[in-house]
Amino acid sequence: MIQVKNRNALITGSSRGIGQQVALGLANLGCNIIIHGRSPESCSKTLKMLEKFKVNAHCVYGELSDESQLDDLIEQVKDLKISVDILYNNAAIMSPYRHDFWSHSFEDWMTSFKVNVYAMYKLSSAFIPIMIENGFGRVVNLTSGIEDQPELAPYGASKWAVNKLTDDIAVKLENTGVRINRLDPSWLRTDLGGSSADYAVEEVLPGALAPVLIENEGPNGQLFLAIDHNLNSEDFKKS
Ligand SMILES: NC(=O)c1ccc[n+]([C@@H]2O[C@H](COP(=O)([O-])OP(=O)(O)OC[C@H]3O[C@@H](n4cnc5c(N)ncnc54)[C@H](OP(=O)(O)O)[C@@H]3O)[C@@H](O)[C@H]2O)c1
Repeated sequence: MIQVKNRNALITGSSRGIGQQVALGLANLGCNIIIHGRSPESCSKTLKMLEKFKVNAHCVYGELSDESQLDDLIEQVKDLKISVDILYNNAAIMSPYRHDFWSHSFEDWMTSFKVNVYAMYKLSSAFIPIMIENGFGRVVNLTSGIEDQPELAPYGASKWAVNKLTDDIAVKLENTGVRINRLDPSWLRTDLGGSSADYAVEEVLPGALAPVLIENEGPNGQLFLAIDHNLNSEDFKKS
């Protein structure tokens, strides 16, 4: 397991939910955090929660379905003049649940793919080439175990596309020191997951950190499960 002390992690959608937990988990290991949400205000809670850790925390913001805001977000990160060693592509939206699953609109499809897939691709293109130059990087793409639910077809298909994109990029990262993997967080009680979900959001730790803490020759293009009861939480204690 590698050390992430003094590394820098950009975590999209870390203003709340799973991304916020990942921010707390990495900060606990001494990793500096770049928090992202849709507005500066939305990041403030996570910023406050990170105060107890001796790490640097920055806020960047942007609506991921809007290309100009996505470009601006990348500029905000580059203006920090720090390397992005860890890119945690966590932010996503779930398309509306449609009982009539033939009624998903153009907007449902386009927005799901803009936020959940295109933004992931664009952020990867901004930061992975620099990781390769640096000989180190960890990229984690949030997927889902969703299946057999055409009522959420745009969301489900976007997560299938996340898997495909992850696998295809992984092939290009052999022997670079950069690893890209996908994480299925399980069904968690968040704004997206809803109140009936199986697990509290806090239970995403420590499993969600596993694809970050792998060695340079570790898994690439693989699926990690955040709620894996075979994990030994002692391994994730602050080093
Ligand atoms: N929760 C589950 O059960 C579950 C299951 C499987 C997979 N996942 C995946 O896990 C990831 C995180 O889910 P979550 O449950 O933590 O979600 P969440 O609680 O709804 O949080 C979403 C986060 O993403 C940001 N975000 C949402 N829409 C955005 C947009 N259009 N542009 C920019 N940022 C946006 C939000 O920022 P603001 O606060 O500024 O709005 C927030 O930080 C997602 O990829 C999701 O698909 C979740």
